[in-house]
Amino acid sequence: MTETSERIDAASAKVLNALRLALPSLRLLTDPADLEHYGRDWTRRWAPAPLAIALPASIEEVQAIARWASAHGIALVPSGGRTGLSGGAVAARGELVVSFERMNRVLDFNAVDRTLTVQPGIALEAVHKAAAEHGLIYPVDFAARGSCSIGGNIATNAGGIRVIRYGNTREWIAGLKLVTASGDLLDLNRGLIKNSSGYDLRQLAIGAEGTLGLVVEATLRLTDPPPPSQVMLFAVSEMAALMRVFAACRSRLNLSAFEFFTDRALHHVLAHGAQKPFDDVSKYYIVTEFDAATEAQQQAAIDVFEQCLNEGLVNDGVLSQSEAQAAALWRLREGITESLAAHQPYKNDVSVRISAVPAFLEDMSALLAREYPQFDVVWFGHIGDGNLHINVLKPAELAAAEFVVQCERVTKLLSAALARHAGSISAEHGIGLVKKAYLADTRSTEEIALMRGVRRVFDPQGLMNPGKLFD
Ligand code: MLT
Ligand code: ZN
Repeated sequence: MTETSERIDAASAKVLNALRLALPSLRLLTDPADLEHYGRDWTRRWAPAPLAIALPASIEEVQAIARWASAHGIALVPSGGRTGLSGGAVAARGELVVSFERMNRVLDFNAVDRTLTVQPGIALEAVHKAAAEHGLIYPVDFAARGSCSIGGNIATNAGGIRVIRYGNTREWIAGLKLVTASGDLLDLNRGLIKNSSGYDLRQLAIGAEGTLGLVVEATLRLTDPPPPSQVMLFAVSEMAALMRVFAACRSRLNLSAFEFFTDRALHHVLAHGAQKPFDDVSKYYIVTEFDAATEAQQQAAIDVFEQCLNEGLVNDGVLSQSEAQAAALWRLREGITESLAAHQPYKNDVSVRISAVPAFLEDMSALLAREYPQFDVVWFGHIGDGNLHINVLKPAELAAAEFVVQCERVTKLLSAALARHAGSISAEHGIGLVKKAYLADTRSTEEIALMRGVRRVFDPQGLMNPGKLFD
């Protein structure tokens, strides 16, 4: 008897055998190393304990898995690149992980509709490449592009660094195929641009974190590439200046990104190998990208910088003169997550309306200074969309569980502040396991009751990614 089969009790072995019988060609993994690998995401907070990992190769196999799960009362956890930051893809309670790793192909490009139809396991970067082969772009973009999958992007309605111009994932999904808990296949919206025929179940499934069904195919809208651009980095001393710089940039430039980070973020990203941008240290930094196809547009950027300098809003700035320089400036922002990973950060991903950002930032800085005097707190994010990432780093000597307890106490206060500012406890990472205790602070009781009802209609047995979003 192998070590693997010893770990699986008789009941589990029986249901897995039933799956093998129903689907003899299905690739199924039960090796402990695979259970560990596929049972977790980037949160690393929960010990993975899935029943097994299924790697279907077709929609029909996914449908058969759903029917088997329903017959045997087995929970399913969809799995893409597992780069999620909220525990949405964690399998810690004997679930079957349905990995879309083998369903990772481009199925179709339609030049007239300007759409790309893909399987859910395709990486975001592969989507970018496929769009570029046709002279077009899929504009949703963020640092995890090389490893995250489009299925996961859809499950969380992923945002990223281009939301200011292009919006979130949901704006780019023209059609979705969804396998429901009963194994039915829904072909939602079918690429239509205009469709006024009742509830848009496609949009309901986007951001549902796998609780309404398994996304097995997506038709993505593509668009024209943007004109040539430039990247500018500003050094800023005062928090109150950040959104004034934003207003100045937005009034003169056609922005495609407006991001910020603090001196603490810069410290970590430099320690991780990035190049120092200025001799002096400032408290805040802004990275912005904008169209710079014409001399007038390039001059406008210089004018904005000078205006901000004259008004005392910024201390210094760098304007990219080449693609390599633009990439080096972006690295300062995009390298932050990786540079913090070793410190096991506790992550908050919050949003408020753009107009509420200045007041919210003030509240936040007072709250975090008061509540986290002993911790290294790193702020960064998509401030031009009203989305802030607050990462609290675990001191080496503090036990992981105790660290989380301390951070959760502060998150409760943070989420009360979000309620006051009419914000959201999750802007783009999703609720998953990490944030469900705070959902009721920024979604009303009535909304949550309706969400529960919707979930029950789609999944009466509660087998689709249970425990995520809410219990
Ligand atoms: C980012 O904006 O860099 C991502 O959301 C990842 C993160 O928050 O760590
Ligand atoms: Zn982000």
